[in-house]
Parts: sequence; C-alpha cells; structure tokens
Amino acid sequence: MGKKIAIIEGDGIGKEVMEAALLVLDSLNLNFEYIHAEAGNECYNKHGSTIPKKTIKIAKKVDSTLFGAVTTVEGQKSAIITLRKELDLYANVRPIKSLPGIKSLYEGLDFVIIRENSEGLYSGLEEYNSKGAVAIRLITKKASRRICEFAFDYALKNHRNKVTAVHKANVLKKTDGLFKDIFYQTAQINQDIESNDYYVDATAMFMITKPQIFDVIVTTNLFGDILSDEGAGLVGGLGMTPSANIGIDNGLFEPVHGSAPNIAGKGIANPAAMILSTVMMLENMGDLDNALKIEQALIKVLREGKFLTPDLGGKSKTMEMAKAICSKLKIN
Ligand code: NAI
Ligand code: MG
Repeated sequence: MGKKIAIIEGDGIGKEVMEAALLVLDSLNLNFEYIHAEAGNECYNKHGSTIPKKTIKIAKKVDSTLFGAVTTVEGQKSAIITLRKELDLYANVRPIKSLPGIKSLYEGLDFVIIRENSEGLYSGLEEYNSKGAVAIRLITKKASRRICEFAFDYALKNHRNKVTAVHKANVLKKTDGLFKDIFYQTAQINQDIESNDYYVDATAMFMITKPQIFDVIVTTNLFGDILSDEGAGLVGGLGMTPSANIGIDNGLFEPVHGSAPNIAGKGIANPAAMILSTVMMLENMGDLDNALKIEQALIKVLREGKFLTPDLGGKSKTMEMAKAICSKLKIN
C-alpha cells in the first residue's frame, strides 16, 4: 500500500502552491494516499479553531504532512507551532541552495542548516521578575544528542561530507559547552563524516564571506532560526525556500513563506518553495531518485526561463509553471 500523506493547504497562496506541488508529485505515479485536513484562518472561521483536533490526529497517523501556508491572526493559536509541538518535530531542516536564474550572492552554494526545534530559548520559560524579565535557555542532553545524531544521519543519507556545530560555548559555557561536548561525542561514532565547530558570530560572517566552507550546520534553536533566514537571503527569496520539520515518527514539509494575501487569488504565486518541500519529503522517505528528478525538472524550467511566475521576472501563472515542470519530468 502507498504511503499516507496529510495535505494541509491552509489559506491564501497555501492552496495555490499546494495544487501545483501535487500536480508535479502526481506525475511521478508514486501511489501516495492523500488525506486532506484543515488548518488556518479560514478553518477558524468555519470550525472555531485554527488547528482542529481532527487535523492533529490525521497528522499523527500519516507518514508525512505537506503544509501550504496559513494566515495567522493575532490572538489565535498558531497552527504550525501547535503541529510542531504535538508531533514533536524536533529537527528543522533548511537547505541553502542557489539555483539557476535566481539572484544569489554566490553561484553553486549548497549547504543545509539543521536547527534544534524543541528547546533552547524557545522553551517558553519566560517570566517577569523584580528587575525586568528573564528567559531560560534550556539545553538538555537528550535533545542535544538527538539533534546531533540527526545531523550526522542526515549527512550520511544525503551524501554530505561534513557537519559543523555552531554555538557560543566561550560565553554560554554550560549550555553550549554541553551541546558542543555531545556534538563531538556523536562525531566520534560517525568518523566517516568530517566534523568541526564555529562560534555563531563567526558563522554569521562566514555565511556571507565564504559560505562554501559549509556542508551541514547543526545548531540550537535561536541561532538556527537566525542563521537559516540569513541563508535564505543568501540564495534569494521566499518563493524559493523550502523547509522540513522532522520528528521520530513524522515529518512535516512546508515552504518558508506565508499565505501572501497581497497576491492570493491571482494564481501567480511561485510554486517552487512548495515543490522543493515535496522534494525534501521524498528525500526523508529515502526516495532520493524521485527527489532528484523533481529538482532537476524545476532547475530546467528555471534555466529556460520561459514559464516563470512574476516574482522570478516571468509572466506565467502558478499552474503554468507547474505544468512546465511536469513536462520536463515526462521527458526524463
Ligand atoms: P509572506 O511570506 O506571506 O509574504 C511576504 C512577501 O513575499 C509578500 O510580498 C508576498 O507576496 C511574497 N511571497 C511570499 N511567498 C511567495 C511566493 N510563493 N510567490 C511569490 N511571492 C511570494 O509573509 P507576510 O506577508 O509577512 O505574511 C502573510 C501571512 O502569512 C500572515 O498572516 C503571516 O502571519 C502568515 N505567515 C504564515 C507562515 C506559515 O504558514 N508558515 C509563515 C510566514 C507568515
Ligand atoms: Mg524565522
């Protein structure tokens, strides 16, 4: 039987890029079983919840979830953060890859940032006190070990050669000291993969001055959040950046962009970030073959420049670009 995939389109262009991504995915005859589920603002207006229990239940049951984008309204529960917590999606994977025809600071960049997604400064342990306020930066051995193991495992599975730990252990001696120690313990059992470490401030600079030195970066929550957006800036734009949220039993794959109300309904959203998110899903399933096929087809379309959405300087609609990618897949 085929793998079960939850489809959460969400709001605005989330729906449009999902339709495009499924068209591309379906042209490969992968025998997936899709289970559609609701989340986001439209869902709230219909059911009184941005992330109904039914959706969480479906996402827990399936092999992977594809998530479009949602409109978030202040005061409403965040659908994506709830899903990350409920499914314990502890690893956030953000590829930093320059693609042809896309404005990028350097050509040929290709590295991945793996961010610990469950603790650090985002543990929610924050309170006011008599002097002001304090946030606790929780670093556990368990979460550090599983993210470091994930990073080496990712490197092995995806034919990458080096894992770099990024931290600030010179100042955060205990928390990042622990993270760094566990990183090198993990490196010890993965000696086929090269390992090294940098301070986060130096990393922020090297990502601009010599990003070619990176292959896989593994880091704690806040540093990963900041560096991955810096990375997106390096390779040009929201319409192009995919991401994966990985847990022990599940994976959730989503473009980095939001629901883009300013262009929603016009059918002109760039589907690349969503399509590249399905590429990451296939990679996570171990289907590197089909992942590469889709990525190559997208690259061909970018290189030809005939069917590009307006954000890429073209005049095509979302579905025209998706169809162009499908036709490249058929030629392959
Ligand atoms: P946004 O990512 O939706 O849009 C920012 C800018 O980039 C806009 O000009 C938009 O037109 C453009 N853009 C984004 N994706 C594009 C694509 N695929 N093709 C062409 N252009 C694209 O961020 P914004 O405007 O700050 O937020 C809009 C809504 O989305 C808000 O409600 C926000 O909270 C939500 N949001 C949801 C996210 C999610 O579902 N994971 C992530 C980020 C924002
Ligand atoms: Mg961010």
